[in-house]
Amino acid sequence: MEALLLVLRWSHILGAILLVGGLAFMRFAFVPALNDTDEETRSRLHESVRRRWLPFVIIGITLLLASGLTNFLLFNSTVKAEGWAEGQWMRENSYHAIFGVKFLIALAVFYLASGLVGRGTGTAWLRSDRSRWLGVTLGLAVAVIMLSGWLRNLHTGPAAPGTEPQGVRLEQAAQAAADTKDRYEDSAAGSAFRAEGDEAAAEPSAGTEPAASDEPSAEE
Ligand code: HEM
Repeated sequence: MEALLLVLRWSHILGAILLVGGLAFMRFAFVPALNDTDEETRSRLHESVRRRWLPFVIIGITLLLASGLTNFLLFNSTVKAEGWAEGQWMRENSYHAIFGVKFLIALAVFYLASGLVGRGTGTAWLRSDRSRWLGVTLGLAVAVIMLSGWLRNLHTGPAAPGTEPQGVRLEQAAQAAADTKDRYEDSAAGSAFRAEGDEAAAEPSAGTEPAASDEPSAEE
């Protein structure tokens, strides 16, 4: 299960990098650079790049959809099977609402990103004003990333120095899973977990391993 989750994470992050990185490069480097060329060179280069980049956009979207849907279903079944917050965790954290907004925006990103490298007449309006629609698509993709980080933070917490590592070291995974489960049992357990984290951050020597001496501390 751990291995599957890791593969899903790699796939999702690689898909996101491919899709969003390509959009950023096109919007801020490729399209502005072509503004200095004549009309004929411009359309020839646009066509050439469009044809070459299309398969990568399809791969990125496929990776994101396949890994995202599987991850979503697995996470739902874990929360249900372990009875987080007596079955109320999803509702208490509005997880499904945030996920729903992310999913809808992601679908819009997929449509726009594929239309920008497609050649159908139905999406020609996107390519007739590339700079604007690349910017819009990129903005929506950034919103998706922010919502994704929010979703992840809901159940992993911030990776602050002095707090427990969450899923970082495989040999500690079993203990981390037990700790994570405990803090979702009810709101009192959650408050106790956060208080422990605050204490540990204030006194790194009490109960947590000291930071390596050559690492700068948070106060420095
Ligand atoms: C533009 C498209 C998308 C982008 C840029 C994107 C980006 C991300 C990023 C950066 C993360 C955090 C990854 C991590 O820290 O491991 C994430 C998590 C996730 N994404 Fe996506 N994603 C996209 C589309 C989708 C789609 C279409 C789905 C579902 C069908 C999906 C489902 C998920 C799920 C379930 C998570 C885990 C959230 C959690 O930790 O609770 N994503 N996504």
